[in-house]
Amino acid sequence: MRILLLTHAFNSLAQRLFIELRERGHDVTVELDINDAVTHEAIELAAPDLVIAPFLKRAIAEAVWRQVPCFIVHPGIRGDRGPSSLDWALLDAEPVWGVTVLQAEAEMDAGPVWASCEFPMRDAAKSSIYRDEVTAAAVAAVLEAVDRFTQGSFTPQRIGPAEGVRGRARPAMLQADRAIDWSSDTTARVLTKIRSGDGNPGVRDQMFDRTVHLYNAKPAAGLNGPPGAVLARSGPAIARATIDGAVWIGHLREPAGEHPFKLPATHVLAGEVAGLAAVPVDAAAGFGEIAYREAGAVGLLHFDFYNGAMGTEASRRLLAAYRMATERPTKVIVLLGGTEFWSNGMDLNLIEASRSPADESWANINALDDLAEAIVRTRSHLTVAAVSGNAGAGGVFLARTADLVWLRDGVVLNPHYKDMGNLFGSELWTYLLPRRAGAAAARNVTEARLPIGGAEAVALGLADDSIAVATRSDFTRAVIARAEALAAEPGWSLRIVGKARLRDADEAEKSLALYRAEELEQMRRNFYGFDPSYHVARSNFVRKVAKSRTPVTIARHRDRRCRFPRRIAS
Ligand code: COA
Repeated sequence: MRILLLTHAFNSLAQRLFIELRERGHDVTVELDINDAVTHEAIELAAPDLVIAPFLKRAIAEAVWRQVPCFIVHPGIRGDRGPSSLDWALLDAEPVWGVTVLQAEAEMDAGPVWASCEFPMRDAAKSSIYRDEVTAAAVAAVLEAVDRFTQGSFTPQRIGPAEGVRGRARPAMLQADRAIDWSSDTTARVLTKIRSGDGNPGVRDQMFDRTVHLYNAKPAAGLNGPPGAVLARSGPAIARATIDGAVWIGHLREPAGEHPFKLPATHVLAGEVAGLAAVPVDAAAGFGEIAYREAGAVGLLHFDFYNGAMGTEASRRLLAAYRMATERPTKVIVLLGGTEFWSNGMDLNLIEASRSPADESWANINALDDLAEAIVRTRSHLTVAAVSGNAGAGGVFLARTADLVWLRDGVVLNPHYKDMGNLFGSELWTYLLPRRAGAAAARNVTEARLPIGGAEAVALGLADDSIAVATRSDFTRAVIARAEALAAEPGWSLRIVGKARLRDADEAEKSLALYRAEELEQMRRNFYGFDPSYHVARSNFVRKVAKSRTPVTIARHRDRRCRFPRRIAS
């Protein structure tokens, strides 16, 4: 089928559907929902059999849904309606939630249902549930709906206020609905409220007479004080007292501030919290970003940076933790990354907020390159990158520095940099990608700028395996079992010798230092050169400036080279 994905943004869910539908042989193209005229033009050019809307912020125009069947992916259970479905599900502590695929009609979210899928809720931020459970349920429901549509015999059911339908229409959630009352809310309630709005829009609050939105919250064990008081700081986070304990708040956004995008709380309130007691970030009582533990002969290194953004300090701290891991008498080191993202490369928000974004970009990419080099040069251990969350740009290549890359099935990788204002990229990608994928495929990957799934990543050599498991913890368990088996293999020593030989041969052909220097030469131009594209793209990215047109890399119907097959008139 010819499928047009009409979406407000090409976000992780839209990317996953793009991958899954293409893998099933459909011709898929994408148009961002910019205005009605552009959508009409897209319908004319793409001539789709079906429009699928994974993420919209407004209703589809009547002329469109009358012309082509349009499936809306709604992140709510059957009967649920409204723009804040997931926010309400979290705030109301729904034990089970779901995704419904319904056909667009005049009334939003009220059309007949083609498929739905439910899942148990997890105690996590909204964006985490969206990227994990919602995305998996949406893929299942969309594929079922598409199958039913193709077969032609299915009649979608209209949902009335029938018995057994739990969903209902809910209004847009307002800040007042999740406002924190520090004088009466428990730690659990504060966390629920913050998580219901994390990633967007965040819970609005007052701190030191400044209006800020709160994100990235965790319980702060062992701390307490007068409710509402700011008690301590730890890495990016500040601790604030509740009536029965305290919470760490990792990130803030100050809409009226000089930098109106998400930043570490200790950055936004630097002056106000300078005198507070500082708890080391990775200590047991700290906010906790990097953690190391061992399972037999396997060292497990977790690094959980908000949104996968790895700033200069974070990258240096991770390098120190990695070096420490290599000094342990283990045989395999598993780089577990974060729970939400494995890594998305440099921290673009911190760069944007720095005094000299060019200097900070330079420091950040060098810190990441130091880490990449340390992993590639490791001779004492076999290294595994276990990728449970999505990864983008430098984060993908940082994973590929490991000897083995194991993906959780369903992970989406964006192994390219150019969408960030033609950024050249570093992290030794010019060594790693062609070596694994071959020169021609490497060129395709960088030029196509498309998201890829597990199957394609394995075929390209960007990963070695994609592991199908039900949950994140199943993935971690499976990874540990495999890593322990690797460490116990009689061939472990041979593998270590083999990898050292390979590295020596590669080094003799062209040194890592030269790859790095060549990449950095290009990056220097991106950061300090005449062309400001990277700085403009980064500013737009962190400020979430909406795109004014759909990139032709995904709007295949707009590609003059006709990569989207033209419809032959019958
Ligand atoms: N620095 C800071 N924040 C980042 C980030 C980075 N490198 N990468 C992603 N984020 C943030 C996004 O701003 C977004 O923030 P939000 O919570 O306020 O919404 C969140 O992480 C999720 O990212 P989003 O873009 O919504 O996810 P996606 O699945 O649609 O797209 C990527 C994933 C990786 C394609 C996209 O985030 C991206 O292009 N990131 C930048 C990668 C990059 O250029 N890194 C620098 C070069 S190494």
